[in-house]
Amino acid sequence: MTLLITGGAGFIGSAVVRRAIADGRRVVTLDALTYAGCLANLDPVAKDPRHVFEKADIRDRAALDRILAAHRPTAVMHLAAESHVDRSIDGPASFIDTNVTGTFTLLEAARAYWAGAGRPEGFRFHHVSTDEVFGSLGAEGRFTETSPYAPNSPYAASKAASDHLVRAWHETFGLPIVMSNCSNNYGPYHYPEKLIPVVILKALSGQPIPVYGDGANIRDWLFVEDHAEALLRVLEAGTVGRSYNIGGESEASNIDLVRMICAILDDRRPMAGPHARLITFVADRPGHDRRYAIDPARIRDELGWRAATPLRTGLERTVDWFLANEDWWRPLLQRRDAGQRLGVGA
Ligand SMILES: NC(=O)c1ccc[n+]([C@@H]2O[C@H](COP(=O)([O-])OP(=O)(O)OC[C@H]3O[C@@H](n4cnc5c(N)ncnc54)[C@H](O)[C@@H]3O)[C@@H](O)[C@H]2O)c1
Repeated sequence: MTLLITGGAGFIGSAVVRRAIADGRRVVTLDALTYAGCLANLDPVAKDPRHVFEKADIRDRAALDRILAAHRPTAVMHLAAESHVDRSIDGPASFIDTNVTGTFTLLEAARAYWAGAGRPEGFRFHHVSTDEVFGSLGAEGRFTETSPYAPNSPYAASKAASDHLVRAWHETFGLPIVMSNCSNNYGPYHYPEKLIPVVILKALSGQPIPVYGDGANIRDWLFVEDHAEALLRVLEAGTVGRSYNIGGESEASNIDLVRMICAILDDRRPMAGPHARLITFVADRPGHDRRYAIDPARIRDELGWRAATPLRTGLERTVDWFLANEDWWRPLLQRRDAGQRLGVGA
């Protein structure tokens, strides 16, 4: 089995690549290496003969056709995306370009490749999406695969649009797709603009730790390596045309999560006072969804997958990874807009 993994130099994509190679699969990583892409994420597999890297943009049809023809993948796992909600507020255009037009271009290239190969039944197009397409929950309830779409940010709207395209390419053209919608990930190689790495790195440097609004927004956190395993399970065992919600069953408010990280750092890197004294509440993100939570019953009951890593254990592993891998994150702090507050709106 040869997998073509788009966005494989990003946070989650690289976890899937590393896991697939460790499992003995052949992998072609396709990535445009935007500000969020990082070849160092693939260092652990760089010398493996079963891994090939192709620098290409999913909006470039000619490049996609060439790569598909050259490597003849048995499946496409589509993770390439603009992924940061705050950036989608400051500049939505690139989210529409990559997440909508890029997904369309990739679907068309995959459809032509699959048709040209005689429409093999075993081919899969796995579209990787987010729970943010479902909008915001109140205090009760969880998202299921039949929850109505109600995206609130430009990022979520662009992902929702891409989900609809993938579904339509299955219904109209018969392309054998599977889809998954996942909750918030965290773990090693997390780009240092997202909440958890920001908290770790600000705390380590003794700077204010920004918490949006009142910190009561709730997310359902999933360790990235558990997500990678779930994605490969959906790819291999998921029913064609079906979507699967993937969640960690680990809900936490942002403020509780930040306090947990501070407590871990108090243990690992004690400083004069508790790290939590650095917590600073800042203006909220416009359209900030209050609560996300995933009901993972379908993937658990049909595919036998369940998140393996408890939140506290995953956070300890993440903090320890950032402490041990300064060579990875320090250069990223020099990249575009690093460390700036983004997405405060007009
Ligand atoms: N991070 C999360 O918590 C989360 C949760 C659920 C779903 N997702 C989805 O999972 C996927 C991966 O998320 P992530 O957090 O790893 O994102 P990321 O921003 O870390 O990585 C995205 C990767 O895609 C590449 N890319 C961007 N535009 C491209 C283009 N036009 N052509 C080719 N490559 C391009 C980037 O270079 C980068 O390597 C996304 O589709 C995202 O919507 C993320």
